[in-house]
Amino acid sequence: MHSFGYRANALLTFAVTILALMCAIASLSDNLNTPSPSAQIEILNINWFQKQPHGNDEVSLTLNITADLQSLFTWNTKQLFIFVAAEYETPKNALNQVSLWDAIIPAKEFAKFSIHTSNKYRFIDQGHNLRSKEFNLTLHWHVMPKTGKMFANKIVMSGYRLPEDYR
Ligand SMILES: *[C@@H]1O[C@H](CO)[C@@H](O)[C@H](O)[C@H]1NC(C)=O
Ligand SMILES: *[C@@H]1O[C@H](CO)[C@@H](O)[C@H](O)[C@H]1NC(C)=O
Repeated sequence: MHSFGYRANALLTFAVTILALMCAIASLSDNLNTPSPSAQIEILNINWFQKQPHGNDEVSLTLNITADLQSLFTWNTKQLFIFVAAEYETPKNALNQVSLWDAIIPAKEFAKFSIHTSNKYRFIDQGHNLRSKEFNLTLHWHVMPKTGKMFANKIVMSGYRLPEDYR
């Protein structure tokens, strides 16, 4: 009886040690992976561009978001959370960041895609700064691992500009 309990305990300790070791190797090998994600975003259309009655600018865009994020997936990757944001400067704020679209990528086979979509979240300025505004579109990602630390990064695409006039 004693020896059975002792052996079961020893086996459990051994299993837990192996598991901890595997987790350490998993997150380590994950750090050695140097991913090379790519993205392009094209503005296909300005659907409308208005000043709201209470004074804030709002614009509706149709985007073509193309990305290849397959290299972010390793055997230790659970899923990716991604979002596209418009980022621009105003006299009040050095960085305004407006999230326009997001998605969860559950597996590597969905990590290479091209999606034609209007902004899922409203692009509203906290004022009326959007006419002729130059802005960047950024694709941000958060990699959620099976074990170890989450990490995040982004691709910045610059050179976008909103129209001079409301329409
Ligand atoms: C979206 O962009 C990709 C890559 O630039 C291109 O291959 C595709 O034809 C575009 N789709 C539309 C609807 O413009
Ligand atoms: C937009 O991108 C350019 C080039 O990467 C960068 O210099 C600039 O600071 C960015 N603008 C904002 C508001 O983040």
